[in-house]
Amino acid sequence: MSHRPWEESADFSIGLSPIDEARWLEGGEADPAARKDRLYAAHRDLVWGETAASRSGQAEVAALLGITDPAGLPPLYAAARTVADDLVLMEKSDGAWRVAAISLSAPTFFTAREVLGRSLAEIHGPVNGFSERFLVRLTRIFEGLRPGLILQRRNWSVVNSSETFTPFSAPVRARIGEISPGEAGQALFTRVERQTVRRLPQTGGVLFTIRVWLTPFSDLAQSPERLAAFAKAWRAAAPDFAAYKGFHLYADLVEAFLRAEGESHSVNGA
Ligand code: HEM
Repeated sequence: MSHRPWEESADFSIGLSPIDEARWLEGGEADPAARKDRLYAAHRDLVWGETAASRSGQAEVAALLGITDPAGLPPLYAAARTVADDLVLMEKSDGAWRVAAISLSAPTFFTAREVLGRSLAEIHGPVNGFSERFLVRLTRIFEGLRPGLILQRRNWSVVNSSETFTPFSAPVRARIGEISPGEAGQALFTRVERQTVRRLPQTGGVLFTIRVWLTPFSDLAQSPERLAAFAKAWRAAAPDFAAYKGFHLYADLVEAFLRAEGESHSVNGA
């Protein structure tokens, strides 16, 4: 699977497409438990949260991943530590789809404690234009998702950190000024989130998964086509998407990188 979604579709869209069960989670991490258990011990309220009523939904997720004995752990966490992906159990209560339990070891600037119990509308409040453009459709998808159907989407952003555990944007963004244009290939990363949703047929909830892929900018320069595809997406990013993702903070560095690698069209396409 390419971790360059900008090559396939314009972003900042719902962009959900069906995938086979065999392609549900991408794997590829030798020991997710080692990474996640450290965070679970040291930063519990940033990476983990559950509501009291969520245990049966959690147990269904654990069973889906083949875990019959959670060994004293909350079942969703017991499941999450066996896979590279973060797992979010969404359940409907008080008329809205809410985060009922969450294992979030690779957060892109949010925390388990701030989203636990929150509805799709509340969680996406900071995303420019989300409620007008996506909320009704998204709710309809959560309502209508039929058992057996697995949907996937990917988004992307640019960050100056190779860490997957980034609960807060401020300490990351505070270091942008330390990067010289010549270092951009190593210091900047594309951060791709691959997400999936599927129904939990027994308890009726929805399981949302998140997997983060970080790739240094230098990888974009591997071929002129790859570089051009990124440059096009970067420069075409819708203003609300770009503002929400903080692209303006990276603009000088990204443009310097693209120019240094021979991608010379200006931002205005001149
Ligand atoms: C299939 C379901 C979902 C869709 C289509 C969706 C869509 C989006 C979109 C379009 C954005 C803007 C950035 C981007 O392109 O990704 C976003 C941001 C976000 N989404 Fe979702 N979302 C979904 C489910 C969820 C769920 C279940 C959670 C629960 C943790 C969640 C948490 C977030 C957060 C925390 C942000 C960033 C908001 C912020 O900056 O505070 N999303 N989502």
